[in-house]
Amino acid sequence: MRQAGRYMPQYRKLRQRHSILDLCRNPELAAEVTLQPVHRLGVDAAIIFADILLPFEPLRLGLSFTAGEGPHIQRPIRDAADVERLPAFNVDAELGFVMDAIRLARRELPADVPLIGFAGAPFTLASYAIEGGASRTFTKTKRFMYQTPDTWHLLLSKLADVVGRFLAAQARAGAQALQLFDSWVGCLSPDDYRTYVQPHSRKALTIASAAKVPLIHFGTGTATFLEDFAAAGGDVISIDWRIPLDAAWARIETRAIQGNLEPAALLAPAAERTRHVRDILTRAGGRPGHIFNLGHGILPETDVAAVRAVVELVHGG
Ligand code: CP3
Repeated sequence: MRQAGRYMPQYRKLRQRHSILDLCRNPELAAEVTLQPVHRLGVDAAIIFADILLPFEPLRLGLSFTAGEGPHIQRPIRDAADVERLPAFNVDAELGFVMDAIRLARRELPADVPLIGFAGAPFTLASYAIEGGASRTFTKTKRFMYQTPDTWHLLLSKLADVVGRFLAAQARAGAQALQLFDSWVGCLSPDDYRTYVQPHSRKALTIASAAKVPLIHFGTGTATFLEDFAAAGGDVISIDWRIPLDAAWARIETRAIQGNLEPAALLAPAAERTRHVRDILTRAGGRPGHIFNLGHGILPETDVAAVRAVVELVHGG
């Protein structure tokens, strides 16, 4: 999930003075934001403060964030020429500020709090690159995928290479686990996932696996193709709240599952929030491989005290 963010007053305070990209590009500030939820919430792990869209700058697509509208890609991908033009780049040279932030955060974190590095999965990145920003229907993305499948596969293959190398570089800098975010892949049918996406996620995870740290494969809306999603790779499979934890566990062979709290349950009265948390813990059935987490990012409307209460409840058993 996005652990730091607008729901935290300390984060909002920093954001008054710095844009989101400034925070990402300044290793001291990024490390500071990374540590905020660890101190404030008492969570077991930290996730480096960065964004999945950062590789768009060295890919020369142009990236900005506009208040209220989210990410904006200045030169979205429209055709084969745009895909062929994507430059190969050295992740340590072009995205070195992320690795610097990882080194700093690792030094400042308590020894028993692991640091997670991350990148966007090929499909989710392609959707932003083609739509030019957020989308509800992914119309341009799907049209591109069906109309020009060869170009689609070239694009996803290039993105898989970039994010695989980016993940491995983060591990070399000190990230002790790596997460691949396929946030919007649930908009696809099971068959289209297998045909158009799975080989590329597999490629990204295979490249990242050279780093020899645990890989977390994150998706939302994947319940209808969970077996294929898990088969693409990852030591930990992340699930959202649309499937009960025990039902997911019965379907896939995995050591570990991450999830599956509904983020909006943090907006519920305490008793209802507690019921959601306890239900997940019951379905986890004491399996050592359950990583309690939200099924997606914390909503900006969330009260920090509610998040803390969940952490305490999970720790208390
Ligand atoms: O949790 C953490 O502390 C790590 C930081 C983190 C950010 N982005 C910072 C950020 C992480 C893990 C991400 C991943 C990310 N970014 C994903 C995958 C995970 C998910 O939530 O699905 C995606 C799809 C993005 C792309 C992105 N970045 C969007 C759509 C937005 C706009 C969101 C909005 O509501 O306006 C961002 C901006 C962004 N990146 C924020 C944060 C904390 C929003 C807060 C802000 O504007 O300061």
